[in-house]
Order: sequence, then structure tokens, then C-alpha cells
Amino acid sequence: MSNPAQISDELTRVLILKSQHGDLIGTIGDPLELSWQIATTRVAASQIGYQIQMSPSPDFSADVSDSGVNLSAEQVGVIAPGGTFSSRERRHYRVRVQTEFGWSAWSSPISAEAGLLSEEDWVGDFIGDEGRVGSPSPTLRYEFELPEKPTSARLYVSSMGLNEVQINGLEVSDGLLNPGWTVYQERLLVDTHDVTSLIVAGPNAISAELSDGWWRGRFGFKNRSENYGTEIGLIAQLELVMADGSLVTIASNDAWKVDTGEILASSIYDGSTVDQTKEHIGWRLPGFDDSSWAAASVKPQAKSVLKPRTTAPVRVIAQFPMGIEPQEDRTLLRSSQNISGWVRLTVDGQKGQRVTVRHAEVLEPGDKLHTKALRTAKATDVYVLGRDGRQVLEPRFTFHGFQYADVVTDAVVISAEAIAISSDNERRGHLVTSDTRLNRLHDNVLWSQYDNFVSLPTDCPQRDERLGWTGDAQAFAAASNTLLNTQAFWRSWLIDLELDQYENGDVGAVVPDLLKLDPNGEIGDWILEGRAGWADAATIVPMSLYEYFADKSVLSAQLNSMRRWTDALHNRRKGEKFLPTEFQFGDWCDPDAPGDRPWESKVSADFVANAFFAHTADLMAQAESLVGTTENAAKYGAMAGQLKLDIWNHMGAEARTTTAGCAMALEFGIVPDEERMSLAAHLSDMVIADDGKITTGFLGTPLILHALSKNGHASSAYKMLMRRDFRSWLYAVDKGATTMWERWDAIREDGSIHSGDMDTNPEGQEDASMISFNHYAYGAVVDWMYRNVGGLAPVNESPGYRLISVAPIPAEGLAFASTSIETGFGKAALNWELNSQGELAARLEIPFGSQARLCLPVTTESKIFCNGSEVANGDLLAHGTHQIRLTKPAVVQYL
Ligand code: BGC
Repeated sequence: MSNPAQISDELTRVLILKSQHGDLIGTIGDPLELSWQIATTRVAASQIGYQIQMSPSPDFSADVSDSGVNLSAEQVGVIAPGGTFSSRERRHYRVRVQTEFGWSAWSSPISAEAGLLSEEDWVGDFIGDEGRVGSPSPTLRYEFELPEKPTSARLYVSSMGLNEVQINGLEVSDGLLNPGWTVYQERLLVDTHDVTSLIVAGPNAISAELSDGWWRGRFGFKNRSENYGTEIGLIAQLELVMADGSLVTIASNDAWKVDTGEILASSIYDGSTVDQTKEHIGWRLPGFDDSSWAAASVKPQAKSVLKPRTTAPVRVIAQFPMGIEPQEDRTLLRSSQNISGWVRLTVDGQKGQRVTVRHAEVLEPGDKLHTKALRTAKATDVYVLGRDGRQVLEPRFTFHGFQYADVVTDAVVISAEAIAISSDNERRGHLVTSDTRLNRLHDNVLWSQYDNFVSLPTDCPQRDERLGWTGDAQAFAAASNTLLNTQAFWRSWLIDLELDQYENGDVGAVVPDLLKLDPNGEIGDWILEGRAGWADAATIVPMSLYEYFADKSVLSAQLNSMRRWTDALHNRRKGEKFLPTEFQFGDWCDPDAPGDRPWESKVSADFVANAFFAHTADLMAQAESLVGTTENAAKYGAMAGQLKLDIWNHMGAEARTTTAGCAMALEFGIVPDEERMSLAAHLSDMVIADDGKITTGFLGTPLILHALSKNGHASSAYKMLMRRDFRSWLYAVDKGATTMWERWDAIREDGSIHSGDMDTNPEGQEDASMISFNHYAYGAVVDWMYRNVGGLAPVNESPGYRLISVAPIPAEGLAFASTSIETGFGKAALNWELNSQGELAARLEIPFGSQARLCLPVTTESKIFCNGSEVANGDLLAHGTHQIRLTKPAVVQYL
């Protein structure tokens, strides 16, 4: 082995070193994992070893601890040396790799810093005012004097309700809706901010505003407010390291002052009311006279719930200019994109004038906002201007799902922008094809992901719901993992899923589970815990993270939760073969189900329940063999095997009669191998007989194209994908959709808007329409598109794109597809086109550490050339760029 002290390979470099958390300050709450990306011009090099160093000093001059040489090709998700962090601990890491050509130089270092990890670290208290739900936002402030500027300053902050904090009038972060929504009764996230640049020598002021938010605002089912408590409060601890090394701590307590200010009301569903005439001018700056303000009241909230944030906060991710259309009694604002966020409005007005902004996703005839779909959410922002002249208005502590807005005011509307927010997950997948409609579909899915990944994965961003529905989450998990780097996002939500798991192992239909907090928790006759295809998020989401990110840690972390859910299913059988017949969501929103009874899908609820049980048991067996025990792997494997046989024998005939039943039987391996091909042919026949029309709901739709194309019926899959008539993905595109709809006919062929139909829903709510224009479940199709149109997919035997399947399926009418995915190893890309010689020409880029396996669309006469040499399907290609040529390709005919 070469001497690790020497750089012996200058051509190989560790380019990027990163951890599973985007932000590396304060997020360390679980073992830190490191991944690195390598660049080399050497075609034959592979990583045969690595070495990681850790030091408290950025230049690695002191106390270096060294992993030594690990003879391993691991490059993604490697547990960092040094063990668990202590509170406030700051470490620097660097890595270098050994290939057959020697050692690389050290990577640029990254640093990671822990937040406050234990209850004892907190000296401050939760503080607030005496207000109750719906009261004006409390404003809190505290002044302190410093003899000199500190060398470093950290702010640790969280709140019951939402907080925004400033120091000397400047925001401490660009995070929004902090601290986000988690299972608050057990896990309330703490943000850590480096605020060194905000603190000055002399007088300083720290100030905060609070809002009811998810904590006590009206939220969830039945218009309930105060879900988590009657009081809101801020906890903040500012730690200043002075030049002599001494520590000054400023913590929230009853020495802080409290009052109310300009935010008269703020609600996630209803919007905010800001009366600028009520603002205390200069209250965020030092020197403000707060002698008339009350002492902050200390709230009796346990600090044991405080946990470090482990996933990116919500941030502004994009802005769209809005068209301004003056109408008789209002001004209509029109954006090009349906988003989650708000309107940033510039007006020219006079002090005391009112400005009211309402929001909607679609317009009714006469360009009226369609607000019925919002149900009881008012989605209305109101301002009272605090001065004369031009001013920019933005609401506070709220967000709306909208593309259109209208403004009623006597002021002059100068300009408007739609401000889009989302949990700040990095973009991962890009897919552009020669078909502009498919591209729009792709972007619609991406936007539904942005719009619904606001702190947690939600069903929709506009109406009085916005809940973490587990069914929608599992249906969309694979697609979400392709489009964005969602690893930390899902991991954080899975912690909440487990925290909210019921005694018997059941998982709720929503996480965080608001129904658990409600003494009259039921919704009509519905059972919401342990429902098929919803509770299975407990097994499906972690296994999807394993597939797309090679994340074994999440499997270890969730193993117990996964077992408890699988065992809950088994126990529910009470010794019988099958689960008892109970209320199920079934293939929810099957388009042939009665509009007001979306659970009455064509495929039987019993089949769906048992099929998802078998799938969960299968996934459980896989997770056990990866990170659990071999006995358990065998136990759950046998459970799944027997159940599948029983399902097929007793329910197979019925399942065959529905497209969703066939898709589940094929995708979950319920159909015996010898009948697989005939079942797939039968499914394909049904699809063709329906002319590609969609006949499945939330659970069947994510599966059906895979069930077809994996079993020899890519043409039927394309028939569905490319259909433009009513009940298809592209129908919505043709109707101008910019996000995914909850129902296929959300806008009918005659242009009218679906009524939502749910007036008779079992909650007995009036006007309980169900018609969102921003629901991602059907966006699951994007996963199929990346794999089959784009042609890049992770392979489970070597997950996280360490092994990449290159399997594009060109179809008539498609001239090219360009796909790229930012994998843990680096960028993988495939650009293919059907050239004028009728060949498929492709450029394939594989990152260091990955390999590609060719599975090209050959005919009996085809030849495959890679960089000029003949190769064959099944061959493995190493990292680097490859020019591929396939003669006489098979091109799917579906028209
Ligand atoms: C939500 C869905 C959810 C369903 C289940 C709806 O109101 O918007 O997406 O999965 O309820 O009942």
C-alpha cells in the first residue's frame, strides 16, 4: 500500500465533501454521515481506500483524530469518525482517497457544529404574552450592552407557535415558518444561527414576533384550534464568545419586554392582518423606549421537547412577476405558476388606506377567483397602510396555494410578484424531452412537490387541510426522491411518524397526527389509523430512501417503527388468513368512484388492504436482511409469501377484473410467476380497450405504468402517458395546469370547474368540497418517466445510483430525451436521440464510484457500440463519458 503521507496521484481529487444535512450548523442530532465526490481523468481508477481526519481546528493543526486507512470503496453515507457530538462542539473534517494510482490530496474541509443537545443547556425560558388564539402577535424585545464585539455569536431559538427573530433590526435567518411543524408534544425543533456579524460593541437589541401557526392556530379537521396548547412562546439563547474567551449568555426570561404590534392576526389558513399604524417605530433597534411594555410572562413548557433541526428550513425558492389587470371593483393579479407562498405587492397609497388581497388557484368565468375549493380557509391578507407613498406589502406567518389573487384598495397597485416558498431541498433531477407537453407535466410535478413540501409533506397547500397525509406521501416518495434531494426531509418526517405511532403499532393517516390530540378524534365512521396504502408509508418511505440514496441509516433508525407496523397488520388478522373487512381509503379517488365517495374504488378494499400488507411484509423482510436479523428476514419473508399465495387464490379472480388490482398484483409480486405474463397481457388489453384512459386512483396510478412496461407492455404504458383526451396526465396540461390536480376532471372538458362533490362527506361538514389543483399523488408518474423516457434508474442490488440502469424506451414521436440526476456520487446524465440514420445515439455520463448497466432497446438486428467498440446489453460501464450508438433500435409504437 502506498504511504498515506504522500500525495501520489495528482490526477484524482476529492472535489466535494458533504454531509446528509444541507446546513451544517446546529443540525447534528444523529450520527454525522459524510459523502464525497471524486474527479479524475483516469478511466481505470476506482476507490480502494479512504482516510478521514477530524480536528477541532480548521487547519488540522491540533488534536487530529484519524480514521486510519479504510480499505473500502464506500463513498456515500460513511459514518464520520469521532462519535457523537457534545453540545456546541465544532469539528472539521477532510477526506482523501486511494485508488490504484495512489493517494489523492486532502479534500477541502467541511465543518459541522452541534447545537444545544440537552435540556440542561438551556438557561432561558419560553416567554410570551397573555394573549389567546387569534390575538395580535406578541412582540418581544431585550436590550444588552457589550464592551466589545464578540469573536463569535450563536443564537439558539425555538418557539411554541411560529417565530421571526431579529438582532439590531436584521433577520437572523432567511428561514420561514420557523420552527416548522413536527410532533410538537415530543419534538420541537431548534434553529441555530451564526449571528456573529449582527452583534456590535455597545448597545444591542434582540427582538421577536410570534404567531399561532400550527401550535394553536385553527388547523386540521373540524376547525379545531389550540391543537397543541393555549399559549405560544419564544425560547432564545444568545451565546457570545468574547475576545478573552469568556462567554456571555443572553437568554429569554421575564426581563424581556412584551407588547403587541402591527400583526393583528395571522393564521396559516386565513392569512394575516397587518395594521402598520400600530407598529412601534424603531422597536427592533437599541434605544427604543419600552418602559410602557409589560414584562414577558414565562410559560410552563417542558424543554425536553427541544431537538435540533435536522432538515433544511422553508425558504423563498422563486419569484414570479404577476400581471396586473384593473377591473371595476378590484385588481386581478395573474401569475404563470400555481405556487405556495404569497403576493409581494407594491402600492402607492395614503396612511390609513386598506388593502385586501385574496387568493385562488383558478378563475371562474368572468375572471372571478374560485374560492370554493379553499373550503373554510380565507386565504386573505389585509393591510392598513402606515404612511403615505409607495410601499411594499407582504403578509406574515402565513402562506397560500394560489396562481391568482385580487386586490381591493383605494391605493394604486404598482406591481406584484408571487413569492414561492418550499422546504429548501436541492434540485436533483432534470428531464427534458422533445415533447413539450411531457416537459410541462414534469414541471407540474416538480412544482407540486415544491408547493407541498412546506416543512412536511402535505396533501395540498390551499384549502383548510395541508396535512401530512401518509398515503399521498408513500405514493409520491419515489418521484420526490428523483426530483429533489429529500433525504434529510423524509428522515425528519419519519421521526415524527414513529413518534406518533399508536400503542399497537398502527400509523395514522396524517403525520403529525392531529386526531390523536383531539378528544373526539374520529371523523364520522372512518377509521384513520392503520389504513392500507396510508400507514404503509412507515415501510415504503424508508425503503425508497434506501433505493434512491443508499440510505441504510434510515433503515436502522426506522427498523423498530417498520416492525411495529408490520406486526400490527399481522396481529389485526387475529389468526385468520386475511385482514378483517374494515373501512379503507381503498384506491382513493378512483375516477369511476362516486364523486362524493372517493373510497368506493372498483378494486375491492379487502384486496387493496391485503395486497399492501403483503408489500409491507416484503419490504420488512428486505429491511431485516439489510440491517436487522436473518431470523426476522425469514419470518417476514414467509409471512409475505404465504399471504401473497392466499390473496391470489382467494381474491385474484376479482382483482383481475380491475386495472388497479392487476397493477398491484404485478408490482407487489402477488401474481405467481407462471401467470405473470398472462396477467400483464390482460392488463394491457384493458388499457388498450380504454384507449389509455386512467381508471385508477391514488394507489393504483403510481403502479400501473411500471406494471405494464416491466412486463413487456411499454406500448400500453406510453398509450396512457401520451393520452391527451379526458382522464389523462396530459389532459390537465392541455387545460393549462401548472401543478398536479387531485381529480382528473378538476376542470371539465367544457371548462367548468368540478364542484368538489364532497357535500355529503361523513364529517357532516357543509361545503366540504374536495377539489385541489395541487396534489402530488398522481405526479408519481415522473418516476416512470425518469426510468423509461429518460432512461436512468437506481438499481436496488447496489442502491443510491452506485449501479445505474441505463434503459431508455424510445417511443414514436419522441425524438430525444435529456436526463440528469445529482446522485450522491455526482452527476449522472443520459442524452439520447433518434438520429437521421434511424439509430439511437446517446451520451452517457457516469460519476466516479458509479457504474452503468446497459439495457438498451434492442431488436434482433441491433448492434451496440460504446466509444467505438461493440458492447452488449448487460455490460457494465465505468465512470466517465461514453458515446453510445445503437443500430436498429426498438421504437415503441403506441398510436
Ligand atoms: C386529502 C388526501 C388524503 C385523503 C384521505 C383528502 O382530503 O386531501 O390527499 O389522502 O383525504 O382521506
